[in-house]
Amino acid sequence: MKKNGTTLAIVISLSLGIGLFAAGGASAHKAKHTPEQLKAFEDVFMEQVMIGDLLFHGDAATEKQLGTKLSKTGMACAMCHPFASDTHPYEFPKFQEQINKFSTLRDMINWCIEKPNEGEILEADSDAMKALEAYILWSNRGSKLDPGRH
Ligand code: HEC
Repeated sequence: MKKNGTTLAIVISLSLGIGLFAAGGASAHKAKHTPEQLKAFEDVFMEQVMIGDLLFHGDAATEKQLGTKLSKTGMACAMCHPFASDTHPYEFPKFQEQINKFSTLRDMINWCIEKPNEGEILEADSDAMKALEAYILWSNRGSKLDPGRH
């Protein structure tokens, strides 16, 4: 008897849930984005890519503007990673030998700032970190997806 009661309660809550969903209560994407909206999203992304490009190439004015010091050795990211080569953003998160832990792309950006560059590491959600990430991702667009490798 008790079991039947429980089953009934589950059926009722499920039906309520489905009813709410059908009424449009839980839908994430109702209408497709318009071409204008998509362009606006891409413009915001490209704006960040350009800031990241400047940071990646050691542009002093951009660094100053964002209050960062990405390198104290005079080496910019691009000197070791031309066109963001060897940054493999699509492989993260993965176990990273250098830091001996399961790491994100942002962890590795900070590793390079701290170790080879002897600079000041960035907050994970800082504007400079997001811009560097945008530049690295944009530069690697179209690369073969092959996550989990080193
Ligand atoms: C002096 C050379 C040097 C500079 C300058 C440098 N890096 Fe690196 N970077 C390396 C080396 C070496 C590795 C480790 C390569 C590996 O994992 O095999 C690396 C790895 C990375 C990786 C991870 C790649 C992977 O898949 O393991 C990222 C991301 C990265 N660097 C970003 C940056 C950024 C951003 C900067 C500038 C703030 C920067 N690097 C500056 C040498 C450099």
